[in-house]
Amino acid sequence: MTLTIAIDGPAAAGKGTLSRRIADTYGFLHLDTGLTYRATAKALLDAGLPLDDEAVAEKMARQVDLGGLDRSVLAQHHIGEAASRIAVMPSVRRALVEAQRAFSLREPGTVLDGRDIGTVVCPQAPVKLYVTASPEVRARRRYDEILANGATADFDAIFEDVKKRDERDMGRADSPLKPAADAHLLDTSEMSIEAAFQAAKSIIDAVLSRN
Ligand code: DC
Repeated sequence: MTLTIAIDGPAAAGKGTLSRRIADTYGFLHLDTGLTYRATAKALLDAGLPLDDEAVAEKMARQVDLGGLDRSVLAQHHIGEAASRIAVMPSVRRALVEAQRAFSLREPGTVLDGRDIGTVVCPQAPVKLYVTASPEVRARRRYDEILANGATADFDAIFEDVKKRDERDMGRADSPLKPAADAHLLDTSEMSIEAAFQAAKSIIDAVLSRN
């Protein structure tokens, strides 16, 4: 049976970096499910279609090609904003969750990261991690990343944005962001990327040794 590792957590918690590294380490396929919401939102924006028409958004969601997702063209802030708006729509979620579930079954094993992987997409996953950090730390990491890329940023605006995104992701009626009952919590507020990876790896190795 394919082994699936489910990784959830709020925006800018470091899930992406951690998930890619875990996938590389175990030789598993990786899907950043946030990109499926972003790709749907970008397709709507590019076509000049409204973001508040659920039937239209669902149609776009059904056309998303999981093989063609590229964070570099989907990273922009306005795309993330639009993604979080269409992510509240149940029929959009159903369409994307179907594609994500199909992906999760691929060989030799998969790592999926997002908001509802352990709770909705892959509730049977033998390994579930909930990666978080305080809103201040997440805003600081995003701020430092923007500066490191040579751009300028306003820390207070980023901090407000992180809190607003949390509210929308945790407050929506369909599949709100929350840890699965059997998820391992990983609070990385005081941890380096390396320490977070080592902590995740020992949790995964413990499960693999039982299987
Ligand atoms: O992780 P991200 O910033 O790329 O996600 C973009 C938006 O998509 C985010 O506001 C929440 C939504 N999302 C979701 O609802 N469920 C997922 N599994 C992944 C992302």
